[in-house]
Amino acid sequence: ALMTQDELKEAVAAAAIEEIRPLLGSEVIIGVGTGSTADRFIDRLAALRDDFKAAVASSEATAKRLKSHGIDVVEMNFAGTVPVYVDGADEINPRLEMIKGGGAALTREKIVAACAQRFVCIADASKRVDVLGDFPLPVEVIPMARSYVARELVKLGATPVYREGVVTDNGNQILDCYEFMIEDPVAMEARINAIVGVVTNGLFAARGADVLLLGGPQGVERFEK
Ligand code: A5P
Repeated sequence: ALMTQDELKEAVAAAAIEEIRPLLGSEVIIGVGTGSTADRFIDRLAALRDDFKAAVASSEATAKRLKSHGIDVVEMNFAGTVPVYVDGADEINPRLEMIKGGGAALTREKIVAACAQRFVCIADASKRVDVLGDFPLPVEVIPMARSYVARELVKLGATPVYREGVVTDNGNQILDCYEFMIEDPVAMEARINAIVGVVTNGLFAARGADVLLLGGPQGVERFEK
């Protein structure tokens, strides 16, 4: 029988538990991402609560969910580094470069990813693309700079749309870049970051995933960079 998207998310969450199991220990702090796929991972992590020390959360929503399972949540500055960060993606290409931030958590996600020795991406097959960009690239901006950044993004070829009503965990705003296929994610990530007023963009290319656990009709496939 064909698996539903929910079942695929459960399957990759289960695979992620097996992926991190060998890394666990009483002093270990795990980096945990945001979104519906990460939520499945969090729910499974609850059973291993006594096998690791704590978690760093990439959003307030994730922190809340972790705590609801009795998992201690610590600050990134306290953890310093984490051996592994597990998170979903909005799109991922064969080089394991991603677009993230559909849930507006991109900045904290990028910080935890930067502090992680290993990034394990968990995704259902619908996230796998050859060229990033069908999913509108999110850019987090300082509110005062929003229209300036939007004009600069137009110069890069994007059609930015203000995500109205959304305030990030950092008190900033989001522009989503439509009609913007990204041929060179590493270069574009740096280019957008160089615009004054940009906090982060949702391209995870300079630091992409190290492992992809991709859920498809044949089961979970594992890709390593
Ligand atoms: C959150 O800001 C995003 O980067 C998520 O990782 C992404 O939206 C994946 O979410 P789902 O697992 O719900 O698709």
